[in-house]
Amino acid sequence: MNLHIVILAAGQGKRMYSDIPKVLHKLAGKPMISWVLDTARCLNPAQIHVIYGHCGEVLMESLPDPDVHWIHQPEQLGTGHAVLQALPHIPADSQVLVLSADVPLIQVSTLQALIQSRSTRAELALLVTQLENPYGLGRIVRNAQGEIIAIVEEKDANEAEKNIKEIYTGICCAKASDFASWLPKLGKNNAQGEYYLTEIIALALANNTPINSLTCKDWIEIQGVNTRLQLQTLEREWQRRKAQELLEQGVSIADANRFDLRGTLTCGKDVFIDVNCVITGTVTLGDGCSIGPNCTLSDVSLGANCEVYANSVLEGSVLEQGCHIGPFARLRPGTQLGQSCKIGNFVEVKKAVFDAGSKASHLSYLGDVTIGKEVNIGAGTITCNYDGVNKYQTIIEDGAFIGSDTQLIAPVTIGANATIGAGSTIRKNAPAGELTYTESSQRTVQGWKRRKK
Ligand code: UD1
Ligand code: CA
Repeated sequence: MNLHIVILAAGQGKRMYSDIPKVLHKLAGKPMISWVLDTARCLNPAQIHVIYGHCGEVLMESLPDPDVHWIHQPEQLGTGHAVLQALPHIPADSQVLVLSADVPLIQVSTLQALIQSRSTRAELALLVTQLENPYGLGRIVRNAQGEIIAIVEEKDANEAEKNIKEIYTGICCAKASDFASWLPKLGKNNAQGEYYLTEIIALALANNTPINSLTCKDWIEIQGVNTRLQLQTLEREWQRRKAQELLEQGVSIADANRFDLRGTLTCGKDVFIDVNCVITGTVTLGDGCSIGPNCTLSDVSLGANCEVYANSVLEGSVLEQGCHIGPFARLRPGTQLGQSCKIGNFVEVKKAVFDAGSKASHLSYLGDVTIGKEVNIGAGTITCNYDGVNKYQTIIEDGAFIGSDTQLIAPVTIGANATIGAGSTIRKNAPAGELTYTESSQRTVQGWKRRKK
């Protein structure tokens, strides 16, 4: 049977106190709704429909995913009304899975089991769970035979119902034709005056439609996010589990409580990651790499035995084995370092290609530059790559030695094994193998006195 997935995302998210739509708030670096969309895609649905209300333009701009069918619910009259908006777009002979965009960590395997339980054991399948503190959620009411007879919202529940710990997760699955017969019949005679999706239980029972529940064992899968505190709590638990997985795979993480992965991390053997590192995008760390405290690694690949010292920021860079970075180094996108290069403290590099064994150990800016093998860049060297309009290239050939406090005014080439004297301003190409420097003469003024204050 064709699967259509309806993701509810029309709520305002008032309790986030934000100008950004709630479902765009990020968990582990990815908007909550994108987590749900990625999971939904794994089920190979015929179509994914997203019900939106507020901020439709912002949502569609932030999620240019071409496979999403957007459906506007101009007024948020309740979850039942929300699903009803999708029905005209779903063929009657398909089945419908309802998800919430603010329940980000639901897993593919759980949803597969729910779909399976509908088709084999019932016509309406509900994902439920047991919670120590069920406050605010719809309670599952069962009869003496253990059959579900209702879902009661917190605001409509009596004292006995409030004590029920089994709750509805907001996720369910039924045939489109069944939804089509139930949803137009929903009333709004309840505490919130809304068309509750949960009232389909009564309608299903009225036509003897079998209902089945599947219990989700892991709370993080079904945790909805209404507040920033809930989002943070869920994020911390997700991060703790990611750290635990990596530890179990043989990665040393100094403190699982101070580890943040916002993307994918692939590690070789004997990798060490110190506290407070933030890893985003796609990051690969080769065997024996060591990352010092407070580093940010974003879309980088490090070969074996690289050492990154404290407080370094690496972005969009590829490093071969044995490089030493930092402390306090900044590698910007387009950096490529050959084997055993060194980028030391307070050095910024951008679109910089270094061949093996080259070093910039202190206080430099190296942008739009190609550097050969075994080059030494002295402290304070600056590539002046920008004239206010265009960017220009600097080329430094193998074995060159750039004296401290040199300005290289691009475009310019420093020949192989050239030496540049300290304090030079190099405007013209420097020949290979020679010493080149610029002079500014030194004077002493006899008897000069500082002015008194
Ligand atoms: C809902 C369930 C409750 C369940 C809980 C799980 C109902 C009536 N109640 O309650 O049983 O325990 O989820 O988290 O279904 N939405 C729309 N349009 C609307 C109203 C809501 O798209 O008109 C969306 C919201 O953006 C949200 C989802 O539907 O993504 C759930 O709505 P929400 O108001 O948060 O429902 P709850 O009160 O949490
Ligand atoms: Ca509500």
